[in-house]
Amino acid sequence: MNEINTKLVSVKDIKVDIDNIQLVADTLRTGGLAAMPTETVYGIAANALDEKAVSRIFSVKGRPQDNPLIVHIADVKELSVLVQEVTPNARKLTEVFWPGALTMVLPSSGLIPKSVNAGLNTIAVRMPGLPVTREIIRRAGVPIAAPSANISGRPSPTTAQHCIDDLWGKVELIADGGECAVGLESTVISLATATPRILRPGTVTPEQIAEVLGCEIEIDESVFNHNNDGVKVSSPGMKYKHYSPKASVTILDGNTEQVMRYLSEQDCDDIWALVFEEDLPFLPISGLSLGKFNDVHEQAFRLFAAFRELDKKGAKHIYARMPNTEGIGLAVYNRMIRAAGFRVINI
Ligand code: TXA
Ligand code: MG
Repeated sequence: MNEINTKLVSVKDIKVDIDNIQLVADTLRTGGLAAMPTETVYGIAANALDEKAVSRIFSVKGRPQDNPLIVHIADVKELSVLVQEVTPNARKLTEVFWPGALTMVLPSSGLIPKSVNAGLNTIAVRMPGLPVTREIIRRAGVPIAAPSANISGRPSPTTAQHCIDDLWGKVELIADGGECAVGLESTVISLATATPRILRPGTVTPEQIAEVLGCEIEIDESVFNHNNDGVKVSSPGMKYKHYSPKASVTILDGNTEQVMRYLSEQDCDDIWALVFEEDLPFLPISGLSLGKFNDVHEQAFRLFAAFRELDKKGAKHIYARMPNTEGIGLAVYNRMIRAAGFRVINI
């Protein structure tokens, strides 16, 4: 791939940075790629109607072609042209959770080229919560395909610096909107199945969705389990190793005392611990805090940034404490267990 002359622009302030916002929009509309902020994580964006631009996303990220992209819109009205039908359940979810960190999978109208959704009959759509993102999409005037702006397999970027680290020289623009407020990717829910099904947990929780829909919802087994290659999965993204720092990650499932004893017995070099704030005074080795045990928002906000920070520190092995798996904790656990390649030690 030829090196591109990447430009870094600020889109932190919707008024002050309006010329930069317009530049990002023009770049996208005319077939360029831009890393752009959303409230969840940074996305690598392209015009979803431009197959050439979309194919560049896959090659820049090193993303397998069978892993479909999410299409982002600026207004809820744009949903109806992308899907066969805005079902009553879809309508209810848009009313409560859009704009925001919820992606809905629905039967596709066929408008979006097959290369975006990996030839599936369904399409994933999200209306982002960050006003600057919607302003970029609105000015681009086209639906925007945007997977997370990391090289495939790496932790998703939550700052412009993370995008610079992964994408400098590979995309036309990196739009700096500051730190992402959520820090983990959106919840993905399929409304194309008989019972609504969570394909990827996020900060919009299964409990919240069930309450709004007033019905049972399922959680896809890929959220908890390892998918073997070759097995058909509902969310193709879930079968790949994901979110990984360069260091190997192992999850330690035990109480504070057990985890601290286990860590004190490890004598290899370059080990780091990823723990809760309450653990810090007891740590026998170097470590970072993900936040307080009960503060799942903070844990979601810090997880990917912590992985990247530990890479910078030269960590070779990371021992992470098992997160609380309730509510938003399920999203943190889902990313962590994938980063760990499902290695959990029950102490
Ligand atoms: O928060 C987010 O969702 C971020 C920001 C940039 O919006 N985007 C993001 O995209 O995380 P990506 O491509 O990294 O993850 C998309 C996920 C993958 O797990 C993919 O398999 C799933 O959504 N997906 C997309 N289209 C699908 C479809 N038609 N059916 C099932 N799963 C789908
Ligand atoms: Mg991703």
